[in-house]
Amino acid sequence: MTTFAIIGAGHGLGASVARRFGTEGFDVALIARDSGRLDGLAAQLTAEGINARGYSADVREPASLTAALDRAAQDLGPIEVLQYSPLPAKQFLRPVLETTATDLAAAIEFSVYGPLTAVRHALPGMRRLGHGTVLFINGGSAVRPNPRYAGTSIAFAGESALAQMLHDTLEPENIHVAQLIISGAITPGHPRTDPAALADTLWQLHTHRDGFRHAADDRDA
Ligand SMILES: NC(=O)c1ccc[n+]([C@@H]2O[C@H](COP(=O)([O-])OP(=O)(O)OC[C@H]3O[C@@H](n4cnc5c(N)ncnc54)[C@H](OP(=O)(O)O)[C@@H]3O)[C@@H](O)[C@H]2O)c1
Repeated sequence: MTTFAIIGAGHGLGASVARRFGTEGFDVALIARDSGRLDGLAAQLTAEGINARGYSADVREPASLTAALDRAAQDLGPIEVLQYSPLPAKQFLRPVLETTATDLAAAIEFSVYGPLTAVRHALPGMRRLGHGTVLFINGGSAVRPNPRYAGTSIAFAGESALAQMLHDTLEPENIHVAQLIISGAITPGHPRTDPAALADTLWQLHTHRDGFRHAADDRDA
């Protein structure tokens, strides 16, 4: 059995995508900071017949992230699919003239160093499997810098560049890297941005392996 690891496992998109990949037969590693919430989500998924476990880590603390990925692979099996989608902090969503270098350093730790650490750590396992998928989720400021959200606009640009380079570099190794842009709010009931609809889109990105950047709705085109 192989593992779907979601970094940023909350009750929104995180839970839906965990459920989607779990239903397809993956074991699920739930990674976020709050171990109590992770255990609650894991119990909920387990009750639905999915083999899910929580692993506490802060994406801004590389050692905690690599330790969580190691424990997940030991407990559940090699990580075949890695999703990076922690919810950015309010500190990263300030107007450009109110954003300090300290805010920006934190945003870059979160959006660039975090995924770089995670992908580098998961890569040897994917190479041993001979295939893998890495899914990046970003808001619309990854595509169009938004002066109201300076931290994410700047840090997502770095994350997008990292993800695109990983896509181009890893494609010949049968490791698919894709980015999903969600420009507006995740909206329950919306045909394309309901968490379950987004989870289905991410499943399609994993199975179809078709290109790098994808839009969750028309506003991202
Ligand atoms: N919500 C929206 O309307 C919206 C709109 C556009 C794009 N997006 C994107 O969609 C993705 C999912 O969003 P969502 O709102 O549905 O979130 P979610 O899956 O409900 O939860 C994401 C989780 O990320 C975790 N997280 C935050 N900071 C972290 C850190 N430093 N280290 C580890 N984990 C951390 C939080 O858990 P802990 O507090 O336990 O760490 C949170 O529960 C994100 O990439 C977000 O940027 C969301």
